[in-house]
Amino acid sequence: DWNAGNFIEEKVKVIREQVGQGTVVLGLSGGVDSSVAALLLHKAIGKQLTCVFVDHGLMRKDEMKQVQAYFAPFELNVIWVDASDEFLGALAGVTDPEQKRKIIGGKFIEVFEREAGKVKADFLGQGTTYPDVIESSGIGGAILVKSHHNVGGLPERMKLKLVEPLRELFKDEVRATGLALGLPEEMNQRHPFPGPGLAVRLPGAITRERATILQNADAIFMQELKDSGWYRKTSQAFAVLLPVQTVGIMGDERTFEWMCALRAVTSEDFMTADWARLPHELLEKIAQRIVREVKGINRVVYDITSKPPATIEYE
Ligand code: XMP
Repeated sequence: DWNAGNFIEEKVKVIREQVGQGTVVLGLSGGVDSSVAALLLHKAIGKQLTCVFVDHGLMRKDEMKQVQAYFAPFELNVIWVDASDEFLGALAGVTDPEQKRKIIGGKFIEVFEREAGKVKADFLGQGTTYPDVIESSGIGGAILVKSHHNVGGLPERMKLKLVEPLRELFKDEVRATGLALGLPEEMNQRHPFPGPGLAVRLPGAITRERATILQNADAIFMQELKDSGWYRKTSQAFAVLLPVQTVGIMGDERTFEWMCALRAVTSEDFMTADWARLPHELLEKIAQRIVREVKGINRVVYDITSKPPATIEYE
């Protein structure tokens, strides 16, 4: 039987053999896969590993600070990069979903290459898992309707050899490995978050102001889901800021502000998904809090479409 303790012990040997006295650079996103890969590599080769965390300005609220806090006890080498001006600048005025994805993907490679180039690395570490391997070899039969943000071309561009210690693992095994390596539960049980981040949840033109409004609404949604126990019962959940203003009333004032959509789904493999039957009382509380606490939003709707025909993200 598969066992996280044995897996870690064996992988540590394999990594040490492969890397020798070399150095590894790894893109840490704060997601489960890259976090577990970072901890496993760190256990094997310690300071020969350097992680690069790129904040593109479209992450969850306070994401970089939170990841810093979670990783502080492990004493990893991490280069923390705030590239939000660069990304948001490149995205200014862009409304086409595919165009946004291409800009973010291209910028990410540029920024990562620049930062990672500061470490004279021999290897690129990646948190590739078994489902990623299947999907990219086409066995999964997935029809990709969106150009996915990935760093597939990086190893060749940077002339680096790959280290992918999680390549044989399924998601539950990745999480079991994370648990055994001491990754905090809150990190280990995270919902997936798309590479282009909030860009795919901000239809229309992206501005820092709109990103901040969305982060604030999303943070309330996440907190309420966690407090009510619904975060674990859903596979993915998030807020979306629609590019629509509607009339509302606050006190005796007329308002004309943005509309927010809440999306929560259950899914086995993210190829299909069902909308989550969140209790009405919970939805009511979240909507009230968002309208009351987030300046710029005066209306909240709940998305009840499944995938297909809708996709999970909005772009
Ligand atoms: P859709 O919106 O296609 O999303 O139903 C399916 C799953 O993929 C995630 N997603 C992405 N993940 N880079 C990623 O790493 C991307 O560009 C990307 N686009 C969508 C999405 O969050 C969902 O889990």
